[in-house]
Amino acid sequence: SSKPRLFSGMQPSAESLHIGNYIGALLQWKELQNTHDAIFSIVDLHAITVAQEPAALRENTRRTAAQYIAAGIDPEVSTLFVQSHVAAHPQLAWILNTITGFGEASRMTQFKDKAAKQGTDAASVGLFAYPTLMAADILLYNAVAVPVGDDQKQHVELTRDLANRFNTRFGPTFAMPEPLILKQTARIYDLQNPTSKMSKSAESPAGVVWLLDEPSVTAKKIKSAVTDAGREVVYDVAEKPGVSNLLTVFSVLSGRPIESLESEYAGRGYGDFKKDLADVVVETFAPIRTRALELLADPAELDRVLAGNADRAAEIADATLATVYDRVGL
Ligand code: ADP
Ligand code: NA
Repeated sequence: SSKPRLFSGMQPSAESLHIGNYIGALLQWKELQNTHDAIFSIVDLHAITVAQEPAALRENTRRTAAQYIAAGIDPEVSTLFVQSHVAAHPQLAWILNTITGFGEASRMTQFKDKAAKQGTDAASVGLFAYPTLMAADILLYNAVAVPVGDDQKQHVELTRDLANRFNTRFGPTFAMPEPLILKQTARIYDLQNPTSKMSKSAESPAGVVWLLDEPSVTAKKIKSAVTDAGREVVYDVAEKPGVSNLLTVFSVLSGRPIESLESEYAGRGYGDFKKDLADVVVETFAPIRTRALELLADPAELDRVLAGNADRAAEIADATLATVYDRVGL
């Protein structure tokens, strides 16, 4: 293909993805698969950098794959595979570990944040080496476009440094990846705590709308979202974070500009606004949920699709790894 190669992934760290993952990643990936030679991975090797229950991990990996497909990632158009099915990922990561400085890795802010939460002794060496595994994910496919949230930008910078370093030391091998920073408007906040990002690991379950929630549950969560004491539907992140977050969701899912929503709901209070938003959210996600559940009802077929896609990924990855081994003298 002459289209630029793209790589992105998500951890199978929960039973369901949430509407932040949908708006911030899947929805944009769905568009990018038309303009790019896109490779999307369910990064289970990244997930085990924090403790996972084995049966739950296996199930969540399938569930994540089903949600990617249900949300519009087409496994005939894109390559959609499970990271651990392609052995070259940890193999290249090891090589990259050997050219990464300990101090350099220690400066990764995501590790520092996560290690601070867990305690340095509880944090694993795997968590420390997460960025070199991510670099391997990208470099194995010579991906030039890497859609990431701004929290992953530093890891893409490290990936570029490692590609450069390897190419300089061992001869031109890797393409230079560029972060494709997704739209800032695509950041979705917790419905109960609208100044913190909606997250799989949220404290308050009522603040997270899961793709696999039943429609009635979704509607209830939207209608009970935290707003503020006023009654004007106005986009103002500092003064009205809750309303602004709901406006973002409404605008992205309906394709209508925020200003047009503001004027439609002027003087009508939050009740109508939330009720209509609940309808929009349910209309968007009910078919995705139904499709995901259909896919999950036939795990053998889903596994067959993932295995075929892993074979396609491995063909590219193994060729890169063979070159790398050769250059290094292995
Ligand atoms: P989580 O924080 O829920 O564990 P991940 O860190 O696994 O999510 O992120 C998976 C993808 O979803 C990334 O591309 C990330 O940028 C995107 N994403 C996660 N949370 C949000 C959010 N609240 N709003 C927009 N995008 C998000
Ligand atoms: Na996260």
